[in-house]
Amino acid sequence: MVGSGAELDFTKGRDLITSPAMEPFLLGADQLRARAGGKWTKYAADVIPAFVADMDFKVAPAVQAAIEQFTHTQDYGYGQMTDPSSVPLFDAFAAWMARRHNWQPDPTLTHANTDVIQGLVATMVAFTAPGDGIIVQTPIYPPFLRYVVATGRRLVENPLVDDGTRFVVDLEGLERAAPQATMILLCNPHNPTGRVLERTELEGIAAIAAAHNLTIVSDEIHADLVYPGRKHIPMETIEAAAERTVTLTSATKGFNIAGLRTSIAHFGSSGLKEKFDSVVPERLLGGPSRFGVAATIAAWCDADDWLDAVMLYLDGNRRRVAEWAAQAELAHYMPEATYLAWMNCRHLDVKEGLTPQQHMLENAKVALSDGVDFGEPGHGHVRLNFATSAEILEEILGRLGSALG
Ligand SMILES: Cc1ncc(COP(=O)(O)O)c(C=O)c1O
Repeated sequence: MVGSGAELDFTKGRDLITSPAMEPFLLGADQLRARAGGKWTKYAADVIPAFVADMDFKVAPAVQAAIEQFTHTQDYGYGQMTDPSSVPLFDAFAAWMARRHNWQPDPTLTHANTDVIQGLVATMVAFTAPGDGIIVQTPIYPPFLRYVVATGRRLVENPLVDDGTRFVVDLEGLERAAPQATMILLCNPHNPTGRVLERTELEGIAAIAAAHNLTIVSDEIHADLVYPGRKHIPMETIEAAAERTVTLTSATKGFNIAGLRTSIAHFGSSGLKEKFDSVVPERLLGGPSRFGVAATIAAWCDADDWLDAVMLYLDGNRRRVAEWAAQAELAHYMPEATYLAWMNCRHLDVKEGLTPQQHMLENAKVALSDGVDFGEPGHGHVRLNFATSAEILEEILGRLGSALG
């Protein structure tokens, strides 16, 4: 096994992972198709799925052991009643954030949810009123758009700007949008562009939010999937933002356990938590299961090496996708984080009425995410999930290449 993140040599990317011992997480297409999860069962057997953000990898041994502990002993009853001043899940969260992200969250200002989007919806309901404006940076993970509308709030879009090398936050646009809103939703690292926001961007957002009294909700679920050269900065570590920010996160993306439904909401001040608790009745939101809690604690306490090895592998894949996209003449910026590649296919010659995603599904038999779901700037784009084995990735790229004509 590899050592801690600091010792890794990312310049060698996937070449470092040569022996079977270094590839304990890879799964073949037959193994993946034999499982019951949504990714490999949604489409017919001749389609390779590269859409939903699950990795085609086994989980960390520590996570698997935590789950097997339950199944071996058939231990499916209620959990232990915990002392609210020391909840193991919250302590593991705080220790992980301190170790990996240089942030010291207060475990007592934490709330456990089943998933991050549940936290997003609950905070929108707690901190805004029907009809309020909520700012999002489009293109954006589709539930951000869907649930602003579903909760009767008003979408205020502040599209990211393509500066010729990457997508950046439009701070001037944000300044103009702020008077129309009471909340800003951040997604950092950003899905689908893979951007990791820089300190200057975060400080700019924080200053505007403070000037206009906006609550900030920062979805940082992809924080553990940052590549070398970039560093995730939690919004709550930005002084001007901390007191007005709710951070939503989980171990589910980094450790590939989304089906276990466990996430964290952390409140940047006791005032925010009190407000949340006063509006959202204690048992209205379902909590995580014992499986999810145990797996998340194992991930955050005992699986650093596994994550580091996976990141080395993904780094090789993201480079390969970028090289392929350049050859295929698809506009694409290599992601700074996430295993998602956002590609502009607007110049593709596709059949009238079809999106590039539909064209690829029909002609390449590869299921990508459709850019239209990510808001207006997503039109003509696709999102490719490259968290799979090099072998499956080559098959995907080969098929896409043939369908490009
Ligand atoms: C930015 C972002 N937030 C939230 C989620 C979903 O998280 P959950 O299943 O915990 O709601 C995803 C899943 O891909 C995501 O990319």
